Amino acid sequence: MEILSSAQMAEADSFTINTIGIPSAVLMENAAGAFVRILLEKQPEMTSAAVVCGCGNNGGDGLAAARHLTNAGIHTDVYLACDPEKLKGDALTNLNILKNYPINVFTVTEDEIPSFEGYDVTVDALFGTGLKRPLEGFYEELVYSMNLSAEYIASVDIPSGLSGDSWLVEGTAADADLTVTFARPKYPHVMYPARKLCGEVIIADISIPDFAISGCDTFLLTPDNLPAITPREPDSHKGHFGHAVVIGGSAGKSGAVLMASRACAVCGAGLTTSAVPAGILAAAENANPEIMTFPVGISGIFTANGADRLAEFLKGKTVASIGMGIGTNPETAEFLDHIIENTDLPLLIDADGINLLQQKHYKKLSGRCAITPHIGEFARLLKLTTDEVNRDRLNLARKFASETGIILVQKSADTLIALPNGLVFVDISGSPALSKGGSGDCLTGLITGFAAQGFDLDFACMLGSFTLGRAAELVLETMNEKTVLTTDIINTVGKVLDELEQ
Ligand code: ACO
Repeated sequence: MEILSSAQMAEADSFTINTIGIPSAVLMENAAGAFVRILLEKQPEMTSAAVVCGCGNNGGDGLAAARHLTNAGIHTDVYLACDPEKLKGDALTNLNILKNYPINVFTVTEDEIPSFEGYDVTVDALFGTGLKRPLEGFYEELVYSMNLSAEYIASVDIPSGLSGDSWLVEGTAADADLTVTFARPKYPHVMYPARKLCGEVIIADISIPDFAISGCDTFLLTPDNLPAITPREPDSHKGHFGHAVVIGGSAGKSGAVLMASRACAVCGAGLTTSAVPAGILAAAENANPEIMTFPVGISGIFTANGADRLAEFLKGKTVASIGMGIGTNPETAEFLDHIIENTDLPLLIDADGINLLQQKHYKKLSGRCAITPHIGEFARLLKLTTDEVNRDRLNLARKFASETGIILVQKSADTLIALPNGLVFVDISGSPALSKGGSGDCLTGLITGFAAQGFDLDFACMLGSFTLGRAAELVLETMNEKTVLTTDIINTVGKVLDELEQ
């Protein structure tokens, strides 16, 4: 599903109105009708509503919604934050209709900012995608009052104060319980921190057809984007599902590679080998009886000693992942350098592997590699601060993948999967159960496991990311989010595969 910018949404509106011929008043009517239908489903007990309307078409949606609410028997007052003389087009039409309705329309001025206490629901139809700058003065005070006094805020399209083109919260914005948006999601609905102010997000159809939407390069990751996962043939054997090598660990950090290896095996790799420094071999051998081991070198960390043997071992395998718990020792950097230079396998690089990655490696990795940095690792890789990355995540992710030919899985509560062809998928599956050490290792293992089974690395990244997120949602059916361990997530992967196979 496409994620639209304000300009793309305006183009879709314009195409629907001017090329297809659906009048804008019909779209506004559909938007208002859908909004009220969804609001009543969510708040079936509501008896009163305040509808706060701005000057533009978002305000127009609100004015039409006030009429639908009244039709549904809800006592409705309108607060027009605008000189009525300024209204035009469909918004003006809807204001004129309200003159024939038993609805109070109060014009709000800066002299008297209303409180919304006492209303069951306050509808925020102040600004939608037309917001041009952060709120200030009168509008800021009005939204502030809404946040302070309203019991339940339902925003039309976008909580007022948020930009349709950004996930950043710049100044005051409505803190909605429900946001009903139209046709497709916009950036603040899917990316943090703005997403936190949207409450529950519902996307409603208002008769904008799919073919009115074009030119998009950012998508919400849904099961529809994922390749089919099919049950195995009855005569299949382990050789059909690849041999993955999970390279990681160091003394004191053996858990990372063991969890990644387990996730890799659990999601279906035919064979999984954990390649670990010889010094932690015993831990690896005792952890997972289903997983083979390959000792590297003679110490508790990876060094160039043994890298040759491992590169030789990788020949003929299906995929390798590297980096979990390896540390950033200079000798380990030499080891990574050697592996990158001496294998042509599809390679997934995570954690300290990313911290040790250098620009000189990009050419060798282009077209066969994915990296999975969290925001701090991505910032270090780009030599930027985390704040700089947060402000420009989407562009930076797209640019990195396009310029290097390396797939970027920038993991977060809203994980960005940026592909070398310029497309970015935003994965919003997941839950706070993932806020714990080990989640990243599990992700690496899942991607490795899917790649071992023959999925191209881009699809393996999408499958791995979605599977991790969905498992973290399903695990909460039986567990408290604080108590969930990575092992519990891994043990839930089967339920996700069941869902994806249907
Ligand atoms: N402070 C004060 N005023 C501001 C600020 C600010 N920070 N930012 C913007 N404004 C003003 C603008 O100047 C503009 O006022 P003006 O029309 O007098 O110039 C007004 O706010 C625009 O605000 P919006 O109502 O958010 O913008 P727009 O009129 O473009 O409507 C829309 C947005 C089309 C409703 C959008 O949210 C959307 O696409 N919604 C889904 C589809 C829909 O509802 N369509 C309705 C019918 S179709 C149509 O109208 C094209």
